[in-house]
Amino acid sequence: MAYLADTVFADWPTARYAGLNVLHQFTPRVHLVQLADNPETRLVVKYITNNMMKGNIWKEMNILKRQQLHPSILPIDRFILHNNNYIVGMATKFVPGGNLNHNKNRTFKLKWLKQLTEALDFLHFDQGIVHGDLHMDNILIDEAADRLVLCDFSMAKEATEQNLMDEFWSVTWTIYELITLDFKAEEEQVQNSQHQYGVYSLNTESIEKLPSWPVRAKLDCDAEAFRKYLREWIKMRKETLQSVKARKPETMANSSEQGRSQWEEPTHGCHGVQSRTIRINYQH
Ligand SMILES: Nc1ncnc2c1ncn2[C@@H]1O[C@H](COP(=O)(O)OP(=O)(O)OP(=O)(O)O)[C@@H](O)[C@H]1O
Ligand SMILES: [Mg+2]
Repeated sequence: MAYLADTVFADWPTARYAGLNVLHQFTPRVHLVQLADNPETRLVVKYITNNMMKGNIWKEMNILKRQQLHPSILPIDRFILHNNNYIVGMATKFVPGGNLNHNKNRTFKLKWLKQLTEALDFLHFDQGIVHGDLHMDNILIDEAADRLVLCDFSMAKEATEQNLMDEFWSVTWTIYELITLDFKAEEEQVQNSQHQYGVYSLNTESIEKLPSWPVRAKLDCDAEAFRKYLREWIKMRKETLQSVKARKPETMANSSEQGRSQWEEPTHGCHGVQSRTIRINYQH
């Protein structure tokens, strides 16, 4: 637990937990809310949890604390405080378009894939971190702005070569599933693979090497154009792996939190394998 005044977020805007009306629960700890004293304002609140399988929200707060980090990354709008001014959660502005799983009827645009890789390039090269948990639920579409937006940074990690490779395979699986709506390929591999701390290694080659991907989603151009763009981006990024300067994301709100909220995520166990990192609670 951290009191707002003791943290680096001391001068940020806030809202009271008691002043929130819950409109919808995305997950048990992520809620769409309106402010009781300003019902027009819709926010998505993510509450702090001690369940480390859910990632470290202080890490997410530290990444998102800079105003408009990138057009495809939502900054924190305000912090949510309980009675004694301790922080119980953070809020971002609501993106009504929802995530890629919410609306499978939407026509997915090649420009959104380009925005995804641009946002990842920014995280990798500029911030020195990987998102660490890319899948369809963590990618939102802001239809009004015609922009893809990333959410859920609680599993972010330093951009080591292995973590970068994992991120590339995660993008491949995500785009494969988006285009084909084939979630079985991944499920089968998960069932047949060993996992450590909820981290599975999947063989990405099995989908990369398919001569064609069956198209079941609506796309604004040929599926082959998506694959070609993705292949070339990954090829180029593999050639520049060593120019990324990895930086460990901060995992605490202030120095007095050290030891209480610090958490080391498990390192990936399968170096050299084309793998994807999946949390055990991953759901479609
Ligand atoms: N700003 C936002 N606008 C619209 N939807 C959002 C926003 N932020 C989060 N969501 C939705 O809430 C869901 C859960 O949020 P998020 O991915 O950050 O938490 P999570 O760690 O996956 O949740 P949990 O740990 O409780 O499983 C997302 O998949 C997304 O659909
Ligand atoms: Mg999520």
